[in-house]
Amino acid sequence: MLVNKMIFLNGQFISQDKALVSINDRGFQLGDGIYEVIRCYKGRAFRLDEHIDRLLKSAEAIRLELPYSRDELIEYVKELLVGVSWDYADIYIQATRGSAPRTHEFPAKVSPTVVMYISQSQGVPETTREKGITAIIVPDTRGTLCNIKSVNLLPNVLARQAAVEAGADEALFEREGIGVVEGAASNIFAVREGVLSTGPLSPYTLPGVTRDCVLQLAKSQGLPTELRFHSRQELLSASEVFITSTSKEVLAIADLAGYRIGNGRPGSITLKLAKDYRALVERECGL
Ligand code: PDD
Repeated sequence: MLVNKMIFLNGQFISQDKALVSINDRGFQLGDGIYEVIRCYKGRAFRLDEHIDRLLKSAEAIRLELPYSRDELIEYVKELLVGVSWDYADIYIQATRGSAPRTHEFPAKVSPTVVMYISQSQGVPETTREKGITAIIVPDTRGTLCNIKSVNLLPNVLARQAAVEAGADEALFEREGIGVVEGAASNIFAVREGVLSTGPLSPYTLPGVTRDCVLQLAKSQGLPTELRFHSRQELLSASEVFITSTSKEVLAIADLAGYRIGNGRPGSITLKLAKDYRALVERECGL
């Protein structure tokens, strides 16, 4: 990971060695914070407005008053992008409630810590896109705040680690009585009998920016769509299953919990949506 030399920390752009946060920061001690990840293509941020809007919603949901307006946040992001020409980069934004002696309740006097930086990243290799990925299914041990992009990622960390240890790429969360809701860092889609489906907006899933783009693309093509969760059996017998996320875009699952999905290769609807998503990126980023 190559980090651009300047880091935004609390209103200033400073070098990485000077970008230090207190051990009393509530993000560090309590996970009392929120974040965003924005993919940038050749120095252009994709769907910046949507990511900033979600950051504002996450802040509101945890009752965190950000010290910057929407316009100011966008200006700071643009500042980070100056001189960046990497094919792929990610902007990471994190806001915590700030630094104060440790208490669970909000401290009387505290001001948020806001960090933003940009780092170079890699696109998904073409061979992986053509083959699809492997995923496992794990019990969803999270609560009901999954619509907030909070830095409380312990269940996601453990799920992804379980996937890696099983030789898989992603772990999908299965919630009792609801279904397989989303991945450790992705949303899930299925194609069953020609209908594209993904979970509805709910407390069990993040409202993914990529998910939204894919639903818009599907609708514009006249592809029937449905918002519903799937049981494990429904996913395993689907003709196509794929994940969406800022960094993975649209990526087929070829093998789920040891079962082949469809014929074990990315399906035609997934491949078309992946291609259309890329075209959308290129159009909106002016590539
Ligand atoms: N994660 N669900 C979860 C739990 C996620 O962490 C993510 C993204 C998504 C997909 O959302 P989007 O399409 O807006 O990226 C769904 C980011 C990339 C991350 O944590 O790195």
